[in-house]
Amino acid sequence: MTIIATWKMALNGTKLAREALIKGTPLEEALITLIKDVEMNEDFHSVGYSGLPNEDGVVECDAAIMNGDNLHFGAVAGLRSMKSAVSVAYTLIDNEYNNFLVGEGALKHAKEMGFKEEEMLTDEAKKRWLEERAKKPKVYKGHDTVCGLIAEEGRVVAATSTSGLFMKKVGRVGDSPLVGPGLYADSEVGAAAATGVGEDIIKGTLSYAIVSLMAGGLSPQDAATKAVMDLDAKLRAKGEEPRDFSVIAVNKDGAWGAATNIAEFPFIVSEENGETAMYIARDFGREIEKIK
Ligand code: GLY
Repeated sequence: MTIIATWKMALNGTKLAREALIKGTPLEEALITLIKDVEMNEDFHSVGYSGLPNEDGVVECDAAIMNGDNLHFGAVAGLRSMKSAVSVAYTLIDNEYNNFLVGEGALKHAKEMGFKEEEMLTDEAKKRWLEERAKKPKVYKGHDTVCGLIAEEGRVVAATSTSGLFMKKVGRVGDSPLVGPGLYADSEVGAAAATGVGEDIIKGTLSYAIVSLMAGGLSPQDAATKAVMDLDAKLRAKGEEPRDFSVIAVNKDGAWGAATNIAEFPFIVSEENGETAMYIARDFGREIEKIK
């Protein structure tokens, strides 16, 4: 079993997912446990409850989950008033149609499925929104998506959840709910997911690019490094300054990798030997340091 997840905020959820897998919980549900632990934590301001709001002061969340066995996926975008967007996305995963719902439609569906509407904006998030609103020009920030991947016995699943960019336009959707850029899972190969500025991640269809490179024979680490370096270089070649993006990857045998175009990207790995540890990727993933 291998679990890999983005940012330090996923440490506790990764441990919970591991315990769930050991008890025989299905992979998708164990992964939801991981993501939900981050969504519900009011100390994390880029995911779920207490996420930083859009320009109107409303928290709008994006999330998705994908099953690598059958390529089924469920996704929501611009979802308001729901603390666990990934749980709502999961209710769509085996639909033949209507796998991706946005805005009012996503909220209507969530309520029909029995999810309760809740206030998402905490006092702390509101205070930061009021301070930011007073500043000009606007600087978009706060995009640390929680992404999780699990590989076990030749199966892989992937999931993401985010409240997106702080002060984003109402209705703006990033990469996180998009199968291809934000996440991808194929149990014949492996899975990958991305965190960072969605507008750039979408340009590189980054998660699918990593899985394709793995399908072509690269290790998860080499695939992650190559995909991030290639997208960074392509954007520069076209005269753009790449924004931040970081990725995680796992193959169907449980080997993993991570890469980034920022100075340091912390991520969590729980491995077959029972150890759950934080690592830091640097230099496009060519340097990986184990922290504890
Ligand atoms: N990666 C999250 C976003 O851009 O919304």
